[in-house]
Amino acid sequence: MQIITIVGRASGREQKLEVPGEDYSQNLLFWLRDQGVTIASSCDGDGVCKRCYIQNGWLTCQMTVGEFLIQEPSGRIEVGYL
Ligand code: FES
Repeated sequence: MQIITIVGRASGREQKLEVPGEDYSQNLLFWLRDQGVTIASSCDGDGVCKRCYIQNGWLTCQMTVGEFLIQEPSGRIEVGYL
C-alpha cells in the first residue's frame, strides 16, 4: 500500500495517509478532503482559481491520486497549512 505524506511548509508537521489501490483513480483534491486535509479552493475543482496548488505548481484538482504518485513517487505533498 502506498503512503502519501502531507507536509506543512511553515510548520514542518507531517501527516501520513495510506492510499488503497482502489483510490488511485480518485481526484486528488477531493480525496485529500475526504482524508481531512484542508486544501484551499474557491472554484471547487474547476481548475480556475489555482488555489489548490502543491509543490511544482501542480493543481490537486487537475490530477488523480495515481497520476500524482507517478509524478511524485515519494508521495510527499507540501501544503501551506497543516
Ligand atoms: S480548486 Fe480551483 S484551480 Fe483547483
